[in-house]
Amino acid sequence: KEAKLWGGRFEEGVTDAVERFTESISFDKALYKQDIKGSRAHASMLANQGLMSLSDRDSIIEGLDQIEKKIERGEFVWRTDREDVHMNIEATLTDLIGEPAKKLHTARSRNDQVSTDFRLWCRDSIDAIVSHVKQLQVALVRLAKKNIGVIVPGYTHLHKAEPVLLQNHLLAYVEQLELDARRLLDCRARLNFCPLGACALAGTGLPIDRFMTSDALGFSAPMRNSMDAVSDRDFVLELLSGNAIMALHLSWLGEEWGLWASEESGFSMEVVCGKSARLVGDLVTLQVLCKGLPLTYNRDLQEDKEPVFDSVETIIGMLKMSADSALNITYNLDKIQKALSSGHLDPSSLVDRDSVLEGLDQIEKQVERGEFVWIQNQEHAKNLQTARSQNGQVSTDFHIWCFEAIDIIVSHIKHLQVSLVRLAKKNTGVIVPGYTHLQ
Ligand code: ARG
Repeated sequence: KEAKLWGGRFEEGVTDAVERFTESISFDKALYKQDIKGSRAHASMLANQGLMSLSDRDSIIEGLDQIEKKIERGEFVWRTDREDVHMNIEATLTDLIGEPAKKLHTARSRNDQVSTDFRLWCRDSIDAIVSHVKQLQVALVRLAKKNIGVIVPGYTHLHKAEPVLLQNHLLAYVEQLELDARRLLDCRARLNFCPLGACALAGTGLPIDRFMTSDALGFSAPMRNSMDAVSDRDFVLELLSGNAIMALHLSWLGEEWGLWASEESGFSMEVVCGKSARLVGDLVTLQVLCKGLPLTYNRDLQEDKEPVFDSVETIIGMLKMSADSALNITYNLDKIQKALSSGHLDPSSLVDRDSVLEGLDQIEKQVERGEFVWIQNQEHAKNLQTARSQNGQVSTDFHIWCFEAIDIIVSHIKHLQVSLVRLAKKNTGVIVPGYTHLQ
């Protein structure tokens, strides 16, 4: 059995029970691709800066290629005594190529490594989710086209209020999904900065080139602050929030299909509704995990992976299932007809069929080309203004209130930032211990 990197202060090796309890390899092996990619970039940078010989770099890269293939063929042996994905890959590289492998740890710690790997993983996941969102949007527009002219009761306060074209209903979801995707893309832009070079928490005196690794990995730039780089999981919280919001929308859609779809075609959506609860739970898990953690890296953070893996896998499953349902669902026209003839429906809001179909064709093309714009054009907005109900009014009022609230909060944030910089200036040169693992 190998000595642990951190085992030095224990008299005897850790017991098997502790090892099993503290390992993360059983789940963080999902980061292997990103870990290997990061190591290739790091080795190339070290060689470029004269911190590693070219031949060491070549054998490292060759070794990593072999390891990647082995993992993909399912032949790699993941060892619990090697704790996590970083140590499993690095130790196996040492088994394979010997001494040169150890130089890969120059100017790098697992603290900046895991943050890099996880950012890359989240970035890939966002791209996958967004492409599934697009497929669902197209499926919903097609469903609207297939049911052109179908009128359903529109509900408010859980009461049938106005008859609406089914497409009006379905396009509401297309709209929501557009914002859901954009929310994740905003998160993608914010997380796309490279932590490498932060090392354990305080950077390094070695002449590394952080821009080179950042470019090689497709990041926008290196992160500015080393302590922030290794400690914050705000990007994960954002991704989980985005997924949780999207899950709520899909749950609404599922409820709706439960109402109107023929029995045999709507049933899988019930499970979509149920799964949305998990996505909210995943977000809360991470919020609680991060609450109360002091700077910088703390081992608690290894618990950040499973909720995210679950959230991403589940939301993709929900999107696929919803798109599949949209393509196959049939509406129960009898049930809809019966519902229309009871209650207090006011038929003043219907529009003509041909112009609707033309509009749907356009929307389908826009979504497919990625040109669908969620900001409605002026004309559309004007039409909506001709009439007003308290429902639209409160939503408008609330939007405006939120705009103002955001401006106020942002100005307070700026004030706090300035105060912190002034505090730093007042204490220039003061050195404090930097903490990691509460040490
Ligand atoms: N596996 C850990 C995680 O998932 C990374 C290791 C961090 N560094 C350390 N010295 N334990 O966060």
